[in-house]
Amino acid sequence: MFNLLNTLVEKNREYGKEGKLASYIPALLEANPNDLGIYLVDSRGKEYYSGEYDKKFTMQSISKIVTLILAIRDNGRYNVFKKVDVEPTGMGFNSIVNLEASDTGKPYNPMINAGAIVTTSLIDGKDVEERFEKILDFMKAVTNNDKITVNESVYLSEKETGNRNRALAYFMKSTGALEGDVEEILDLYFKQCSIELTARDLARFGAVLANDGVIPWTNEKIIPKEVCRIVKTIMVTCGMYDASGEFAVNVGIPAKSGVGGGIIATVPRKYGIGIYGPALDDRGNSIAGINLIKDLSQELDLSIF
Ligand code: DON
Repeated sequence: MFNLLNTLVEKNREYGKEGKLASYIPALLEANPNDLGIYLVDSRGKEYYSGEYDKKFTMQSISKIVTLILAIRDNGRYNVFKKVDVEPTGMGFNSIVNLEASDTGKPYNPMINAGAIVTTSLIDGKDVEERFEKILDFMKAVTNNDKITVNESVYLSEKETGNRNRALAYFMKSTGALEGDVEEILDLYFKQCSIELTARDLARFGAVLANDGVIPWTNEKIIPKEVCRIVKTIMVTCGMYDASGEFAVNVGIPAKSGVGGGIIATVPRKYGIGIYGPALDDRGNSIAGINLIKDLSQELDLSIF
């Protein structure tokens, strides 16, 4: 397995040259576009890795999975899906047009920015700090890494430049789709996007999802099986934004990307996979990462379809 991963990383690294670092969050421009790393955790807890699997990056939109899980835990599935739909948009992750065009006023799904701002608003807690601690505690548990924390400079950069997210949130506040203090909700959203981790951490989180919510190294059930099923389904239909259909055809694994260059993927009952490659394609997905996981899926016959 190590040989296969080394071969695939070196083969796909060159795609980094064709991509671009996310520039709309200035702090993300500090990454090295040639980096590419992968980490795999199998169902018996064995771990395999290659490339820059140990480099830190911010989870960005991958945090949308976490806020969906915690929103369901705090409110129940019914109350969450009263406020956010589960339909793919076919539009970019920060698109504003669907919010006005939708009949219900609800964001289309929890994997676009508007939907994630709503799930973030549904996490219980007396203030931003308490709610953020819940997110961080969850991340520490599913990654077996109690050092996970926020990258302050990315957080401040997002907060300073996040005007598109402000527009989405205030629009939803005006229609009643979003309730609560908008600035506090956005603060929590920018913080969760700026949680810093590695491909190893993502692979372990992916292994928990693959294992139906039971943490393989403690046997603790941290996510109900039914919630895991819902999350993995939404990852298939919406996890790679407007490239989700193509990804399902070419790769066929529930996955979620972030503009920090991360991809988390989860092969039910087989593997958790974490990938890092910060150069992005025009949809905001890691360009080398997508090519790498496509090759891996073919080599190991991982498509769930
Ligand atoms: O809100 C944003 O735009 C970023 N913090 C997260 C977006 C993101 O990761 C989309 N991913 N591909």
